[in-house]
Amino acid sequence: MGNTELPSHAERMTRTGTETAFEVFAMAKEIEKTGVKVNHFEMGEPDFDTPENIKDAARKALASGFTHYTAAPGILELRQAIAENISNDFDVDIDPEKEVVVMPGAKPGIFMSILATVDPGDEVIMPNPSFPIYESVVNLVKAKPVPIPLKEENDFRLNPEDVRNKITDKTKMLILNSPHNPCGSSLLKNEVEELAELAKENNIWVMSDEIYSKIIYEGKHYSMLSVPGMKERTILVHGFSKTYAMTGWRLGYSVGNPKVIAHMAKLQVNISSCAAAFSQMAGIEALTGPQDTVTNMVMEYEKRRNAIVEALNSIKGISCKKPSGAFYAFPNVTKTGMKSKELMMHLLNKAHVAALHGTAFGEYGEGYMRFSYATSLENIKEGMEKIKVAVEKL
Ligand SMILES: Cc1ncc(COP(=O)(O)O)c(C=O)c1O
Repeated sequence: MGNTELPSHAERMTRTGTETAFEVFAMAKEIEKTGVKVNHFEMGEPDFDTPENIKDAARKALASGFTHYTAAPGILELRQAIAENISNDFDVDIDPEKEVVVMPGAKPGIFMSILATVDPGDEVIMPNPSFPIYESVVNLVKAKPVPIPLKEENDFRLNPEDVRNKITDKTKMLILNSPHNPCGSSLLKNEVEELAELAKENNIWVMSDEIYSKIIYEGKHYSMLSVPGMKERTILVHGFSKTYAMTGWRLGYSVGNPKVIAHMAKLQVNISSCAAAFSQMAGIEALTGPQDTVTNMVMEYEKRRNAIVEALNSIKGISCKKPSGAFYAFPNVTKTGMKSKELMMHLLNKAHVAALHGTAFGEYGEGYMRFSYATSLENIKEGMEKIKVAVEKL
């Protein structure tokens, strides 16, 4: 008989986090197995199907042999389409050969940009609450996450003054996310400019996650790349998942400093070689084909935003500001008298409504819940009615 003892796991796994959305989704699925209907608001995923023209492009790509490896940074035609799209939207010149890397999703852009620029002991400033993968990856590389609380009284926008106060000689990177998950807030032009100035003055990289840049209802999105001179120190994280309802295609990209982009392409050779060839061909169609499907989806999200915010505000103990972008409502639930996680479990088990506690996005999310409204008006109506009963009975 051999030795039954197993070797230890890598120490870094103790420092790696995850996304609670998948855990709550799994709990909801367990409840559904007992025959009970659950209303879902936990996943940050468009409920729309990928537009037909994009699916057609993938079918055509498969039929014509796009079933092999591609260049590690991505098919040049796609990089050209991305460069053109970013140039038009953000008013900045992009070199498709040196300043763009295509990856299987936007998440690898977060992972690889941190791996490429941040060393153990470095400090990385980030909003809190925020997408949990930022903190997870910063911890993974043994750097220190430095949280900046997002405050409701500031409409959950990152305050540049708060950032300034946290900069030390160890600060290596500032992470931004606008429009924001989970708060639905969007940075104003002058705030982006002030943050850019801070990054320049203190020689800091900026990772700017703008994956929701086309899902915006108030004002106009202003990119960090649009600030003159910022392309050199910015790594833009973007992709197709949200704008084109393509979460399962695994397609995203980063744009920015050519040296960092080259390092990211090298990391990609080590991790995945490239994004799937036929997904990349579909990406070309997404960017260069008709955009009316995007406009229609955003119009529909706006109707849902209005409906969910109104419904949440009608529940005693809950108040919700109107988010300006992305597809998340982030209501204040302190007056229910329950902690966020406790309320999340209460809603799941008693109302059969799945949503996320604010602390799934960091400690400063306490007192809030996140509802994804990338779901039908019918689901919103039914779910909110169930919550009203479960909360007002508390
Ligand atoms: C802010 C933010 N960045 C990145 C991602 C990841 O996107 P992808 O599915 O393209 O990897 C998400 C997905 O929820 C997100 O909300």
